[in-house]
Amino acid sequence: MGAVVGGIDSDVPSLYCRPQMGWYDVFSCFYDQTLTSLYIDARREACLALDPRPKDTVLDLPCGTGQSFDVLAPALADGGHLVGVDLSDGMLRRAKERIARNGWTHVQAMQADVLSLERATLETVAPRVDALHVFLGMSAFPDWENAFRRAWDLLVPGGRCVVVDVYSAAPGVQGHMVNAVARADIRRRFWEPLENVAEDYSRCELPSLPDHGGQLYLARGRKPARSATATGS
Ligand SMILES: C[S@@+](CC[C@H](N)C(=O)[O-])C[C@H]1O[C@@H](n2cnc3c(N)ncnc32)[C@H](O)[C@@H]1O
Repeated sequence: MGAVVGGIDSDVPSLYCRPQMGWYDVFSCFYDQTLTSLYIDARREACLALDPRPKDTVLDLPCGTGQSFDVLAPALADGGHLVGVDLSDGMLRRAKERIARNGWTHVQAMQADVLSLERATLETVAPRVDALHVFLGMSAFPDWENAFRRAWDLLVPGGRCVVVDVYSAAPGVQGHMVNAVARADIRRRFWEPLENVAEDYSRCELPSLPDHGGQLYLARGRKPARSATATGS
Protein backbone atom coordinates (compact mmCIF):
# COMPACT_ATOMS: atom_id res chain seq x y z
CA MET A 1 0.00 0.00 0.00
CA GLY A 2 1.29 3.50 -0.81
CA ALA A 3 1.93 6.29 1.64
CA VAL A 4 -1.12 8.02 3.01
CA VAL A 5 -1.53 11.57 1.76
CA GLY A 6 -4.23 13.64 3.42
CA GLY A 7 -5.80 10.43 4.70
CA ILE A 8 -6.03 8.91 1.21
CA ASP A 9 -3.91 6.06 -0.13
CA SER A 10 -1.39 7.63 -2.53
CA ASP A 11 -1.71 4.68 -4.94
CA VAL A 12 -4.93 6.24 -6.21
CA PRO A 13 -4.59 8.91 -8.92
CA SER A 14 -2.92 12.09 -7.71
CA LEU A 15 -5.93 14.26 -8.55
CA TYR A 16 -7.88 12.46 -5.84
CA CYS A 17 -4.96 12.54 -3.38
CA ARG A 18 -4.63 16.29 -3.76
CA PRO A 19 -8.15 17.64 -4.23
CA GLN A 20 -7.03 21.15 -3.25
CA MET A 21 -4.40 21.16 -5.97
CA GLY A 22 -6.99 20.65 -8.70
CA TRP A 23 -8.61 23.84 -7.49
CA TYR A 24 -5.31 25.76 -7.28
CA ASP A 25 -4.59 24.75 -10.89
CA VAL A 26 -7.90 26.37 -11.88
CA PHE A 27 -7.31 29.36 -9.56
CA SER A 28 -3.95 29.95 -11.26
CA CYS A 29 -5.81 30.92 -14.47
CA PHE A 30 -7.28 34.07 -12.87
CA TYR A 31 -4.99 34.44 -9.82
CA ASP A 32 -2.91 37.32 -11.12
CA GLN A 33 -5.87 39.31 -12.44
CA THR A 34 -7.61 38.94 -9.06
CA LEU A 35 -4.78 39.42 -6.59
CA THR A 36 -1.94 41.49 -8.06
CA SER A 37 -3.16 44.97 -7.14
CA LEU A 38 -4.70 43.77 -3.87
CA TYR A 39 -1.38 42.62 -2.37
CA ILE A 40 1.39 44.58 -4.09
CA ASP A 41 1.89 46.99 -1.17
CA ALA A 42 2.01 44.13 1.34
CA ARG A 43 4.56 42.30 -0.84
CA ARG A 44 6.78 45.38 -0.79
CA GLU A 45 6.47 45.54 3.00
CA ALA A 46 7.34 41.85 3.28
CA CYS A 47 10.45 42.34 1.14
CA LEU A 48 11.56 45.32 3.25
CA ALA A 49 11.05 43.30 6.43
CA LEU A 50 12.92 40.30 5.05
CA ASP A 51 15.79 42.63 4.14
CA PRO A 52 17.49 40.30 1.60
CA ARG A 53 21.28 40.74 1.42
CA PRO A 54 22.93 40.67 -2.02
CA LYS A 55 24.28 37.09 -1.78
CA ASP A 56 21.35 35.59 0.12
CA THR A 57 19.26 32.62 -0.92
CA VAL A 58 15.59 33.33 -0.23
CA LEU A 59 12.95 30.59 -0.12
CA ASP A 60 9.49 31.78 -1.19
CA LEU A 61 7.06 29.12 0.03
CA PRO A 62 4.48 28.78 -1.40
CA CYS A 63 5.33 30.88 -4.45
CA GLY A 64 2.01 30.56 -6.31
CA THR A 65 2.36 32.31 -9.68
CA GLY A 66 5.43 34.14 -8.41
CA GLN A 67 3.85 37.51 -7.64
CA SER A 68 6.36 38.06 -4.85
CA PHE A 69 9.21 37.38 -7.30
CA ASP A 70 8.52 40.84 -8.73
CA VAL A 71 9.77 42.46 -5.52
CA LEU A 72 12.21 39.80 -4.26
CA ALA A 73 14.08 39.05 -7.49
CA PRO A 74 15.43 42.60 -8.08
CA ALA A 75 16.63 42.72 -4.45
CA LEU A 76 18.70 39.57 -5.08
CA ALA A 77 19.97 40.41 -8.56
CA ASP A 78 23.53 41.08 -7.37
CA GLY A 79 24.65 37.50 -6.66
CA GLY A 80 21.65 36.29 -4.70
CA HIS A 81 19.29 33.44 -5.40
CA LEU A 82 15.51 33.09 -5.13
CA VAL A 83 13.79 29.71 -4.95
CA GLY A 84 10.01 29.46 -5.18
CA VAL A 85 8.30 26.23 -4.15
CA ASP A 86 4.68 25.30 -4.79
CA LEU A 87 2.71 22.10 -5.21
CA SER A 88 0.21 23.17 -7.87
CA ASP A 89 1.13 22.47 -11.52
CA GLY A 90 -0.84 25.49 -12.73
CA MET A 91 0.66 27.93 -10.22
CA LEU A 92 4.14 26.64 -10.93
CA ARG A 93 3.72 26.90 -14.70
CA ARG A 94 2.86 30.57 -14.33
CA ALA A 95 5.74 31.15 -11.93
CA LYS A 96 8.11 29.65 -14.51
CA GLU A 97 6.59 31.79 -17.27
CA ARG A 98 7.19 34.86 -15.09
CA ILE A 99 10.84 33.86 -14.61
CA ALA A 100 11.32 33.38 -18.38
CA ARG A 101 9.50 36.62 -19.24
CA ASN A 102 11.77 38.61 -16.93
CA GLY A 103 14.97 36.78 -17.90
CA TRP A 104 15.79 36.08 -14.25
CA THR A 105 18.68 33.60 -14.23
CA HIS A 106 18.94 33.72 -10.42
CA VAL A 107 15.32 32.64 -9.80
CA GLN A 108 14.02 29.07 -9.84
CA ALA A 109 10.65 27.51 -9.21
CA MET A 110 10.30 23.91 -8.10
CA GLN A 111 7.43 21.62 -7.30
CA ALA A 112 7.14 20.14 -3.83
CA ASP A 113 4.67 19.58 -1.05
CA VAL A 114 5.71 21.65 1.96
CA LEU A 115 4.71 18.77 4.20
CA SER A 116 7.30 16.47 2.71
CA LEU A 117 9.90 18.99 1.58
CA GLU A 118 13.33 17.65 2.53
CA ARG A 119 16.55 19.58 2.89
CA ALA A 120 18.15 17.14 0.41
CA THR A 121 15.51 17.96 -2.25
CA LEU A 122 15.93 21.67 -1.78
CA GLU A 123 19.73 21.37 -1.83
CA THR A 124 19.53 20.31 -5.47
CA VAL A 125 18.72 23.97 -6.22
CA ALA A 126 19.79 25.86 -3.07
CA PRO A 127 22.57 24.73 -0.73
CA ARG A 128 21.29 26.96 2.10
CA VAL A 129 18.27 29.10 2.92
CA ASP A 130 19.21 32.47 4.43
CA ALA A 131 15.71 33.90 4.51
CA LEU A 132 12.24 32.38 4.47
CA HIS A 133 9.28 34.22 2.93
CA VAL A 134 5.79 32.80 3.55
CA PHE A 135 3.11 34.97 1.94
CA LEU A 136 -0.53 33.81 2.02
CA GLY A 137 0.72 30.32 2.78
CA MET A 138 -0.19 29.74 6.42
CA SER A 139 -3.92 30.25 5.77
CA ALA A 140 -3.77 27.85 2.81
CA PHE A 141 -1.48 24.98 3.82
CA PRO A 142 -3.06 21.79 5.06
CA ASP A 143 -1.64 20.91 8.49
CA TRP A 144 -0.28 24.45 8.60
CA GLU A 145 1.61 24.22 11.90
CA ASN A 146 3.60 21.22 10.66
CA ALA A 147 4.07 22.96 7.33
CA PHE A 148 5.68 25.87 9.14
CA ARG A 149 7.96 23.57 11.15
CA ARG A 150 9.13 21.94 7.94
CA ALA A 151 9.91 25.28 6.34
CA TRP A 152 11.57 26.64 9.51
CA ASP A 153 13.85 23.62 9.69
CA LEU A 154 15.21 24.49 6.23
CA LEU A 155 16.32 27.94 7.41
CA VAL A 156 19.95 28.38 8.50
CA PRO A 157 20.57 29.29 12.15
CA GLY A 158 20.51 33.09 12.30
CA GLY A 159 18.28 33.20 9.19
CA ARG A 160 15.35 35.61 8.87
CA CYS A 161 11.69 34.76 8.37
CA VAL A 162 8.72 36.88 7.32
CA VAL A 163 5.16 35.60 7.31
CA VAL A 164 2.25 37.63 5.89
CA ASP A 165 -1.35 36.55 5.89
CA VAL A 166 -4.95 37.53 6.54
CA TYR A 167 -6.59 36.97 9.90
CA SER A 168 -10.13 37.23 11.14
CA ALA A 169 -11.38 35.60 14.34
CA ALA A 170 -14.93 35.72 12.98
CA PRO A 171 -14.94 36.11 9.20
CA GLY A 172 -17.77 38.10 7.67
CA VAL A 173 -19.26 37.58 4.22
CA GLN A 174 -16.07 38.74 2.47
CA GLY A 175 -13.92 36.59 4.73
CA HIS A 176 -16.02 33.54 3.87
CA MET A 177 -15.61 34.42 0.19
CA VAL A 178 -11.83 34.57 0.60
CA ASN A 179 -11.82 31.24 2.42
CA ALA A 180 -13.92 29.66 -0.31
CA VAL A 181 -12.00 31.05 -3.29
CA ALA A 182 -8.50 30.55 -1.85
CA ARG A 183 -9.35 27.25 -0.08
CA ALA A 184 -8.01 29.04 3.00
CA ASP A 185 -8.84 29.39 6.67
CA ILE A 186 -8.22 32.96 7.74
CA ARG A 187 -9.23 32.13 11.35
CA ARG A 188 -5.78 30.64 11.94
CA ARG A 189 -3.53 32.58 14.28
CA PHE A 190 -0.89 32.06 11.65
CA TRP A 191 1.87 34.03 13.37
CA GLU A 192 2.00 31.83 16.49
CA PRO A 193 4.29 29.06 15.16
CA LEU A 194 6.88 31.74 14.30
CA GLU A 195 6.33 33.59 17.57
CA ASN A 196 7.02 30.35 19.46
CA VAL A 197 10.43 29.69 17.94
CA ALA A 198 11.90 33.00 16.75
CA GLU A 199 14.24 35.56 18.28
CA ASP A 200 13.66 39.27 17.70
CA TYR A 201 10.04 38.46 16.94
CA SER A 202 7.57 41.20 16.08
CA ARG A 203 4.18 41.50 14.42
CA CYS A 204 2.46 44.49 12.87
CA GLU A 205 -0.75 45.26 11.07
CA LEU A 206 -0.58 46.11 7.39
CA PRO A 207 -3.14 48.35 5.67
CA SER A 208 -6.12 46.16 4.88
CA LEU A 209 -8.98 46.49 2.42
CA PRO A 210 -12.47 44.99 2.62
CA ASP A 211 -11.49 42.63 -0.24
CA HIS A 212 -8.80 41.04 1.94
CA GLY A 213 -11.58 39.57 4.07
CA GLY A 214 -9.80 40.32 7.35
CA GLN A 215 -6.78 42.08 8.82
CA LEU A 216 -3.43 41.67 7.09
CA TYR A 217 -0.53 41.05 9.47
CA LEU A 218 3.18 40.80 8.94
CA ALA A 219 5.16 38.73 11.45
CA ARG A 220 8.92 38.47 11.44
CA GLY A 221 11.68 36.87 13.45
CA ARG A 222 15.10 35.32 13.34
CA LYS A 223 16.12 31.73 13.89
CA PRO A 224 18.32 31.50 16.97
CA ALA A 225 21.96 30.96 16.03
CA ARG A 226 22.01 27.80 18.14
CA SER A 227 18.65 26.15 17.92
CA ALA A 228 17.10 22.73 17.97
CA THR A 229 15.06 22.08 14.84
CA ALA A 230 11.37 22.93 15.15
CA THR A 231 10.56 19.26 14.58
CA GLY A 232 12.70 18.45 17.61
CA SER A 233 15.34 16.48 15.71
C1 LIG B 1 -3.26 31.81 -1.68
S1 LIG B 1 -1.99 31.03 -2.64
C2 LIG B 1 -0.56 32.03 -2.21
C3 LIG B 1 0.52 31.98 -3.27
C4 LIG B 1 1.66 33.01 -3.14
N1 LIG B 1 2.40 32.83 -1.92
C5 LIG B 1 1.16 34.41 -3.24
O1 LIG B 1 1.38 35.19 -2.31
O2 LIG B 1 0.53 34.75 -4.23
C6 LIG B 1 -1.69 29.53 -1.74
C7 LIG B 1 -0.68 28.64 -2.43
O3 LIG B 1 -0.36 27.54 -1.58
C8 LIG B 1 -0.04 26.44 -2.42
N2 LIG B 1 -0.12 25.23 -1.60
C9 LIG B 1 -1.20 24.73 -0.95
N3 LIG B 1 -0.87 23.59 -0.31
C10 LIG B 1 0.45 23.38 -0.54
C11 LIG B 1 1.36 22.37 -0.13
N4 LIG B 1 0.97 21.36 0.63
N5 LIG B 1 2.65 22.45 -0.53
C12 LIG B 1 3.05 23.48 -1.32
N6 LIG B 1 2.22 24.47 -1.75
C13 LIG B 1 0.94 24.42 -1.36
C14 LIG B 1 -1.09 26.53 -3.51
O4 LIG B 1 -0.75 25.80 -4.65
C15 LIG B 1 -1.14 28.03 -3.76
O5 LIG B 1 -0.27 28.40 -4.79
